[in-house]
Order: sequence, then C-alpha cells, then structure tokens
Amino acid sequence: MSVGAGRSCYLNGDFLPLNEARVSVLDRGFIFGDAVYEVIIAQGGRIFALEEHLERLTNSLNAVLLDNPLTAGEWQAMLQRLVDVNGGGGQTIYVQVTRGVAERDHAFPRGVAPTVFAMCRPLSVADGLARVGAVVLPDNRWLRCDIKSTSLLPNILLRNQAIAAGAYEAILVRDGFITEGSASNVFVVHGDCVRTAPLSAQILPGVSRALLIDVLRGNDVTVEEEPVPVASLGDADEVWLTSTTRDLVAVTSIDGVMVGSGESPLAERAFREFQLYKAFRLR
Ligand code: PDD
Repeated sequence: MSVGAGRSCYLNGDFLPLNEARVSVLDRGFIFGDAVYEVIIAQGGRIFALEEHLERLTNSLNAVLLDNPLTAGEWQAMLQRLVDVNGGGGQTIYVQVTRGVAERDHAFPRGVAPTVFAMCRPLSVADGLARVGAVVLPDNRWLRCDIKSTSLLPNILLRNQAIAAGAYEAILVRDGFITEGSASNVFVVHGDCVRTAPLSAQILPGVSRALLIDVLRGNDVTVEEEPVPVASLGDADEVWLTSTTRDLVAVTSIDGVMVGSGESPLAERAFREFQLYKAFRLR
C-alpha cells in the first residue's frame, strides 16, 4: 500500500486522497524550501489552540513576504473539514504554504499563486509523562529560527545526530546558552524555578511553550524567560521539552548522565495540569 493511502488531504482548494496529491517539481517549496508550515493537533475531533497556530503562521508568512492565502475563518473551516473527513478523533495536522510554481530563480516570482497544502494523520496521545535522553549539540542553524520555515536541513541533521547517539532530542547551544531543541523548546528546572530561553530570532516561539508558561504561572510556579547557560544543565533538577505533538516530555539523561535524581516530580505535575488545560479548551 502506498504512503498516505486511505487519508485525505487539502491541496489548493481541493480535498483529495493524500497518495494522489501532486505538486510541480518547479514548486519553490521543492526547489528552495521556500515555504512555511505549522503543526497543530486535534483531540476528540476538535482542533487545539488554532488561534495561536494561525497567528504564528501569519507571522511566518509576513517574515518571508508571502500574503496569507486564506482568512482565519477559511483556515478554520478547511482544517476542521480535513479532520472530519479523516475520521476526527486525535489527529496531527500539517499545514504548508509555499511561494508557488515558477522558473527557478532566487528572486521572487511575480503574480504566482502560493501552494497551500494540509494533511493529517492519527495522533497517538501519550498516556503519561514520557522520559527521554538528550545530547547537547552546537546550534548551527541560521539566525531566523523564529520563522517556522520548511528549510529544516540543520534541524534534521542535529536530530539524527542525537538519534545516532542513542538519544531522542538534541539540546542546542549558541554562545554558551541553550536555545531550544531540534524540534522542541527546552525548560530547565532548579528547585522551584523553571527557566527557558526568552523569545528572540534564535528560537521558535513554541505554542506549547507559551501555553505551558501560562499554566505554570497559573499554578504559582515561577517561570523565568531568560538566557539559560548550558552549564546550568550540570546541576539541574529537571529538564523538559515541549512541542505540539509531544506536549511535555522529561529529559532524564543528557550526554549519558542522569539529570538530577532521575525523577521529574514538577514535570509530572506540569504534565497533569497541561492535560487539564487542554481538556478545558477542547470542551
Ligand atoms: N516542531 N522549536 C522547534 C525548532 C520546533 O520545530 C518545534 C515544533 C518547537 C515547538 O513548537 P510548538 O510547541 O509550537 O509545537 C520548537 C513541530 C512539532 C514539527 O516540526 O514537527
């Protein structure tokens, strides 16, 4: 059976079988990685935090000088229909907008319609806090990591370096400070204080990062958005990763060394509170 069989996707106004969807090899998304994307989830058939994801998509589009091809209402209707035609329930939704099809030229083409694509696939929801290993690697990406660009070659290489080392994620470091993971944001806990890198062009403004910070502060946990020295991992009690598809994950070893006592009591609590928050917004 071919990849994507049995699932429907959206491409430029049409809903069609994922394994039959086609874009031109001249699409700038294919040729240059000239595209931005979002990853969103649905649970119980309802889309979570769509407003936040659409806001970030608009910011990414603005940053690469692409007009948003759809209104918020059109995005909402299209994505909900996509979830519905794929059977509802838990879904990971992937959205991509490219600069469209044109002769290969670094200069932007004029008058070209963007390619708008969305697909989804069943989401396996973690039934509890996951624990993973990480490695620390130099952040060798570009200086616009705030744009959710599909040009992810550095992230992919870093992630695979982590996997080759037997770990799940790479914690990235620039100038002695933690930026983020290859596909996640990073939180470091000392005692009852949680720290994470401040928003800047060096990190993606993670939707889960922002929501978790709100949830923690709402539960009287101190969260500092300030530069986190990589050396602070040495005596950290807990280290966490956040992303849309994994919520919150505890890092229990870094470069083969156990983090703190290997327990993650604050992560357990944060994970529970985050599930309650999600359930509240999805009600
Ligand atoms: N990645 N930082 C990077 C570099 C990411 O790629 C991601 C998410 C995050 C977390 O952002 P959010 O909480 O909004 O998912 C941070 C997605 C899941 C992906 O590329 O599949």
